[in-house]
Amino acid sequence: IPVEDFDLVIFGATGDLAHRKILPGLFRRFVAGQIPETSRIIGAARTEQDDDAFRAEAAKAIVEFAGVKKNDPDLVRFTGLLGYTAIDAKGEGGWKALKARMRKGAVHAFYFSVAPSLFGDIAERLHGHGITDKHSRIVVEKPFGRDLETARALNTMLAQHFREQQIYRIDHYLGKETVQNLMAVRFANILFEPLWNAQFIDHVQITVAETVGVSGRGSYYDKSGAIRDMVQNHMMQLLCLIAMEPPYHFDPNAVRDEKLKVIRALEPVEPSDIVRGQYQPDGKEPGYLEDAENPDSRTESYVAMKVRISNWRWQGTPFYLRTGKKLRARTSEIAITFKEPPHSIFDDTGAPRANELVIRLQPNEGMNLKVMIKEPGPGGMRLVQVPLDMSFADALGPEGADMPDAYERLIMDVIRGNQTLFMRGDEVEAAWAWTDPIIRAWEDGKQRPEPYDAGSSGPEEALRLMHRDNRRWREIRA
Ligand code: BG6
Repeated sequence: IPVEDFDLVIFGATGDLAHRKILPGLFRRFVAGQIPETSRIIGAARTEQDDDAFRAEAAKAIVEFAGVKKNDPDLVRFTGLLGYTAIDAKGEGGWKALKARMRKGAVHAFYFSVAPSLFGDIAERLHGHGITDKHSRIVVEKPFGRDLETARALNTMLAQHFREQQIYRIDHYLGKETVQNLMAVRFANILFEPLWNAQFIDHVQITVAETVGVSGRGSYYDKSGAIRDMVQNHMMQLLCLIAMEPPYHFDPNAVRDEKLKVIRALEPVEPSDIVRGQYQPDGKEPGYLEDAENPDSRTESYVAMKVRISNWRWQGTPFYLRTGKKLRARTSEIAITFKEPPHSIFDDTGAPRANELVIRLQPNEGMNLKVMIKEPGPGGMRLVQVPLDMSFADALGPEGADMPDAYERLIMDVIRGNQTLFMRGDEVEAAWAWTDPIIRAWEDGKQRPEPYDAGSSGPEEALRLMHRDNRRWREIRA
């Protein structure tokens, strides 16, 4: 769907996120014909430079991160949409010039791709200079606070200048095609929903495993750790989409109301239900402590936890979450293990009997349902478990293999004015309210994270978290 003519201002346009994601994402949507040629994308940052210098900078980033040639005609046309205004976020410089660039009648969106400590300064000046009005939209990035108190302060501050309907809080996981597919699978098929509860589901595993470490961003990461960096936001969103009640409509508030109910129903997590880990040096590459440049750090680069949801649907079904850096493979998936049939009419062959549905979020997006069939042969009724395996790319053909990046989808949703895939203020606060005590209990203690080898599946202790419940983690593999 093409969008209305818009003016998009990117604060922090010279930064890493703008280079890697925002500008290449906009470029791809432009090539797809979704961005009107009359739209304006205005970079704003501290660097003093003119429009042409910014166009050259943007073109370089797009060549690098969108894989196009320097002289691609689309790239030349796209950079024609770009402009630049040098801005002093903490002073008055540049704001009048920015205002002069905004056109009447176009959709106005302001992307805060800057440190959260600048959100307030920018919001105030946008408002003070009359650049924004009640129709403008603002986009803010994570981290949205580092605990409940700071998240609340941010919400309160933004609320002084903008209504909730104007604020787009990004969690880029919601922009991933397969994450949206969780809702399609659950709510567009009759097959799953009747079984989607504690009566039929034994447990759920959510895994987001990464192979990268934290080198290069150690100073940010060390103040954050896996719980703040991944669990409070991305993992929480996955958990919500798997566990929520069906919304009455695919509508921003209907969806977010249901997610919020899940977060509010989360039980506090006992320290004995959490395992934290730190990756070790492996002879070739430095370990976490060196990457974080903090030899005494107790920050976790891996966390596994058992989570319970206190409501009718999920009473008795644990959700096991794990995420970490420098693991064996980059893989994100959700595995739903069903209960065994209540009675078996076949002689026990020892084969596993529980159906399992695995939704692969990345890479090789797809679904795999394990079902029981008869093993071929004349020797009686022997059962064997086989996969009903589908990769979305195979099923959808070449077009299906071309998954747009999360940011492409989200930026276009901002322009379209659709908040469904963005976090509402109360949702973010509820997520912090749940993670705060988990983080505080750890920070107040003295325990150290469990060491794990780079390239492994995480610390041994995490295996025990499952074994003591007579369950096991799925293997982490590419
Ligand atoms: C970011 C985290 O939000 O998500 C990073 O800050 C993490 O630490 C990244 O690597 C993972 O995103 P993706 O899209 O690569 O799975």
